[in-house]
Amino acid sequence: MKVLITGGAGFIGSHLADALIDMGYEVRVFDNLSVGSRKDLEGLDAFIYGDVRDRDAVFEALRGVDAVVHLASLTSVEESVRKPLEYHEVNVTGTLNVLDACVKAGVEKFVFSSSASVYGEPSELPVREDSPTNPLSPYAASKLAAEHYVNVYHRVYGLNTVVFRLFNVYGCGQPLNEYSGVIARFLSRVRRGEPPIIYGDGLQTRDFIYIDDVVDAFILALNADVSAETFNIAYGKPTTINELANVMLKLSGMETLKPIYMEARKGDIVHSYADISKARKMLKFNPKVSLEEGLAKMLNTL
Ligand SMILES: NC(=O)c1ccc[n+]([C@@H]2O[C@H](COP(=O)([O-])OP(=O)(O)OC[C@H]3O[C@@H](n4cnc5c(N)ncnc54)[C@H](O)[C@@H]3O)[C@@H](O)[C@H]2O)c1
Repeated sequence: MKVLITGGAGFIGSHLADALIDMGYEVRVFDNLSVGSRKDLEGLDAFIYGDVRDRDAVFEALRGVDAVVHLASLTSVEESVRKPLEYHEVNVTGTLNVLDACVKAGVEKFVFSSSASVYGEPSELPVREDSPTNPLSPYAASKLAAEHYVNVYHRVYGLNTVVFRLFNVYGCGQPLNEYSGVIARFLSRVRRGEPPIIYGDGLQTRDFIYIDDVVDAFILALNADVSAETFNIAYGKPTTINELANVMLKLSGMETLKPIYMEARKGDIVHSYADISKARKMLKFNPKVSLEEGLAKMLNTL
């Protein structure tokens, strides 16, 4: 199977490319390197430098491809508040460009990485795929709008599609910048001997999933006989930010550091964790790496 990964130079994409190459897939990566960096992966069929906003470049890139995993995206909730139009262009119009090229090029399968942020502050926990959506940021709105286009491309043009709503993915190679997820930010401070900074009381929950489990989910989706389905991809367990800080400090041997508490950030979701029974049942998805194990793996490879 020949697979094109848009955003394949990024955190999730580069792990997925690695795993697929190891399994004997022909893998092409399409990325504008705005965030990701080019890794010379042995066995990579092609690295194509391009932007998902460039329709012709997208079409050229996916000629002859059997499946597309569409990960290219701008990914920061905070940044999206300052740049809503850019988020729309990359995340919505960019996705539409990829979908359209898939239909024209006769691609058999399209897997899309959406986000748990489409639920907003969940009205029920654990959150299910049929729970109400209520985006609270331009980023979340762009992901939900893109999901609608994915579903329409199935209904109108018969494209074989799968949507993943990813929860908090962590692991080695995660970009470390002002927009990084909480695990990468805590880790960078703890490694410098500085206490983690917690916004709010630390009782807010998240559902952390290790990168290897996410890669497994994408591989299952590429091979499963399912279409037009949306799945929560998470570990399926809530962890408070206080618990996360404690585990990280313990594993790093820094128990003497005490987290610093700062005012809660506006718009932060309080509780979020997923019901993953649909993915367990239909994809045979079975996340294996607990938070302690995943963090230990991360710390060991630093
Ligand atoms: N990491 C998470 O916790 C998480 C959670 C929910 C959803 N997601 C989604 O998963 C996908 C991958 O996330 P990630 O964590 O690997 O992010 P990432 O930023 O590491 O990877 C995204 C890649 O897309 C590329 N890209 C950005 N704009 C582009 C454009 N216009 N054209 C071509 N390439 C472009 C970047 O250079 C980068 O390599 C994204 O769609 C993201 O929204 C991630």
